[in-house]
Amino acid sequence: MKIVLIGYMASGKSTIGKILAKELNLSFIDLDHYISDREQMSIPEIFTQKGEIYFRKIETKCLLEVLDKEQEFILSLGGGTPCYGNNMEIILNSDAASVYLKASIPTITERIRTGKRKRPLVAHLSNEELPEFIGKHLFERQFYYLQSNHSITVDGKQKYEIVDDLLKALC
Ligand code: S3P
Repeated sequence: MKIVLIGYMASGKSTIGKILAKELNLSFIDLDHYISDREQMSIPEIFTQKGEIYFRKIETKCLLEVLDKEQEFILSLGGGTPCYGNNMEIILNSDAASVYLKASIPTITERIRTGKRKRPLVAHLSNEELPEFIGKHLFERQFYYLQSNHSITVDGKQKYEIVDDLLKALC
């Protein structure tokens, strides 16, 4: 089984991915970590030192590399991964099942508020600016996210409920 977790920043892709991987006894790959390891730099460092265009190029390369693996895995993407180049097409044409972890604007805002510094796209925004930015950004990105094979709403749910919903959708 190959599963790709898709969703906006802070929708729980990595957290849920790790739990799911344990549950299914599969390896877990976080695309951002994969990129960081390869570049020997954190994601914010890549953005500031090399720029977003460079990041997006490496992101597509790494996505292709991971999807090409023989072994089964749970892969959590970055929030922007499906929205650049032909990445969503690549995901849909791969042998992996894609799942969109759908979080509302208030849920995302609340979660991002505390961890802005790790996220270069929102690091410069004030807490007051966050909801409007997230609303617009999510609206643009949902076009891609909603093409996923499955959609799971995460708002107000415990982690284990999301994992259960995911397993039900996949099996
Ligand atoms: C990004 C999301 C980040 C990371 C990079 C860009 C985005 O991943 O890939 O900062 O464009 O939404 P998370 O979704 O894990 O925060």
